[in-house]
Amino acid sequence: MDYHSHYLRLGVNIDHVATIRNARGGYHPDPVKAAQIVADSGADGITAHLREDRRHINDRDIERLVSEINLPLNLEIAPTQEMLEIALRHIPHAVCLVPEKRTEKTTEGGLNVIHQQNFLYDFVAKLKNVGIKTSLFIEPSFDQIEASFKVKADVVEFHTGRYCDAPKEKKSIHLKQIYDAIKEANSKGLECHAGHGLDYNTVKPLIQIIELKELNIGHFLIGEAIFQGLDKVIKKMRSIIEKNRQTIVKN
Ligand code: PXP
Repeated sequence: MDYHSHYLRLGVNIDHVATIRNARGGYHPDPVKAAQIVADSGADGITAHLREDRRHINDRDIERLVSEINLPLNLEIAPTQEMLEIALRHIPHAVCLVPEKRTEKTTEGGLNVIHQQNFLYDFVAKLKNVGIKTSLFIEPSFDQIEASFKVKADVVEFHTGRYCDAPKEKKSIHLKQIYDAIKEANSKGLECHAGHGLDYNTVKPLIQIIELKELNIGHFLIGEAIFQGLDKVIKKMRSIIEKNRQTIVKN
């Protein structure tokens, strides 16, 4: 097997650098500076979620991430008119559509594509028409995969939160669902990504899934950077990916 054609990208979500900045207002710490360190440390992309309430990343951050950082930007947004206009103004490399609830602490679950199929078909088309790679953040469910295929998404990103939060003895059940979902989505021509709640350990079984093309990880990496430094943490995650990926590609 050729390692390069099975390369697994690491996208780093820098939202929580902005969360700390916003705790005091002002400019420090700067999420764009964090994105530069992430880029210099070997990550493959930057992910940022522009929330309706701007609780972490703001509009100016997005403008600067597009103009100052030389890595593909994966812009996470809720499928609303306001966010569509912002995406069309900046044309990031990719957009990931996520569900959003004002009161949630983080994106709690996947998008219900089945319930808004016609709406999302038009929404996805508007993004794809200007060349934005369009992804849907969904639960590992065959029905949601089928609906994502029907709305012509390029990518599905599987929500790994339930797997990461599950007690040790139940993790394999969730992992199997993710594994089956990736096989199914890949067979339909959908590129497969995964993210939410991943750390140095929970990431390992996912790296073994050869059809998976990208991981998006934020909270753990930014939190761990407080102790180890952002560059070290990104390099360590990248090396875990290399090591575990090479083992399966060789076999
Ligand atoms: N992918 C998507 C679509 C997300 O919404 C998030 C959280 O914002 C992540 C990945 C990263 O999750 P975490 O911060 O838990 O690593």
